[in-house]
Amino acid sequence: MEQQLNLNKIFKQHLEMERFFAGDFAVKGDAELFAGADTGQEAPDMTQALETIATTVRSCTKCEISSSRLNAVPGQGNPKARLFFVGEAPGADEDKQGLAFVGRAGKLLTEIIKGMGLSRDEVFIGNILKCRPPGNRDPKPDEIQNCWPYLKHQLEVLQPEVIVALGAHAARTLLDSKDAIGKLRGRFHEYKFSDEVPPSKLMPTYHPAYLLRNYSYDNRKRVWEDMMKVLEELGLSVPKKKQ
Ligand code: URA
Repeated sequence: MEQQLNLNKIFKQHLEMERFFAGDFAVKGDAELFAGADTGQEAPDMTQALETIATTVRSCTKCEISSSRLNAVPGQGNPKARLFFVGEAPGADEDKQGLAFVGRAGKLLTEIIKGMGLSRDEVFIGNILKCRPPGNRDPKPDEIQNCWPYLKHQLEVLQPEVIVALGAHAARTLLDSKDAIGKLRGRFHEYKFSDEVPPSKLMPTYHPAYLLRNYSYDNRKRVWEDMMKVLEELGLSVPKKKQ
């Protein structure tokens, strides 16, 4: 009985989610022009550089959690992505498949990306931690410290115009802040590379898993408003709400 109620809830959320992030918005459709950041590097070089990072991640044993993983999850996407989504850490589905954001939270992220008029192939998706913390517990500070060079390197290769930090762990790590996500989200911050490389704009927003747990209209609207700011920053049309 309880299981059936949960299934009904999931099904209802899924329908609402599709309507909210995609169906209720008409997409103007300049997204095919989207991927293609100019970092001065050729796509094959960047693919190679990202693959080298991924190979290092897959053999990493710096933390104890590497011994309980089924697969490391380096992150995946377009090697010329202008937009990089950063989450917290892989969950059970990601650990099984070795891919970032493929479980329930991942499906919601896919809807959000589609609602923006984009596809997962056009963006890059990764995490602060590349291994699943047992029982999906929060990342520990030493794990974040050990894993950080991999994400830092991915960001340096891609030099995305915009980074979306999904949830408190991603936002706090990328901004070196202790502030709550509710305080950080909704406005652009800067992610600084070095004096030579211009910073990326960084938009913190709620994690899709938080949205699923707190599935209110207001929370979805907040995430949607954050994503509209991202689209504007990227010079893409903001999908219009259908009348
Ligand atoms: N949550 C995350 O933060 N990352 C994933 O890859 C999946 C769920």
